[in-house]
Amino acid sequence: VREDSTSVAEYVANYITTRIKEFGPSQERPFVLGLPTGSSPIEVYRILTAKYKAGEISFEHVITFNMDEYVGIPRDHPQSYHSFMWHYFFSHVNVRPENVHILNGNAEDLESECAQFEAAIEAVGGVDLFLGGIGEDGHIAFNEPGSSLASRTRVKTLAYDTILANSRFFDNDINQVPKMALTVGVQTILDAREVVTLALGARKAVALQKCIESGVNHMWTLSALQLHRHSLVVADEDATLEL
Ligand code: GLP
Repeated sequence: VREDSTSVAEYVANYITTRIKEFGPSQERPFVLGLPTGSSPIEVYRILTAKYKAGEISFEHVITFNMDEYVGIPRDHPQSYHSFMWHYFFSHVNVRPENVHILNGNAEDLESECAQFEAAIEAVGGVDLFLGGIGEDGHIAFNEPGSSLASRTRVKTLAYDTILANSRFFDNDINQVPKMALTVGVQTILDAREVVTLALGARKAVALQKCIESGVNHMWTLSALQLHRHSLVVADEDATLEL
């Protein structure tokens, strides 16, 4: 628990930096980093960018996989997760474009797009560290309440709560929010060697309580991380109000 969102972001950015540096370029394979979107990680991306510019960290040997992407909005739509990631992070650091993996929500065959994504993760030896956020309904990535805890990357219909929560990025108009998304599954995340989750603000407090103090439950999918041996939640004080 850290006092506020800035201290959480500093902690997490330092944590990721240490992990990437410990791993080192001498390994036979690159470091594989899973990444989220949403407002929670923006400050983490800003600090990682500053560290890169200060020569403290390089992303040259880092492969990234994003958690999710909307279905049915163009890749260059300002709210697509492609746009988000390039805007807030990838454009500012030395990650190689060919090492960036973001699901294509406009693929002709969405199921095969998801299968290829899983295969790409496997081909590089799995995810070393998956960074995530938490939805107000306890989702991780877009694994909405009721998702199988054994799920893998797939098409998911968004829950009304998520559409409502994300409408703030779409002129507060729920009709503009995509109704479907591609998302890694709960099991895809559990397969990562380590998972770090950001929980910021009072609006996450109920979800955080359900996910870490109640039992493992597919209605609060983040709770599946209780089964993971290396899972860390970094929360600000407001997010811990219900603990
Ligand atoms: C979206 C994303 C999630 C993210 C959540 C929380 O639903 N698919 O991965 O955790 O938003 O977003 P925020 O950080 O803006 O609260």
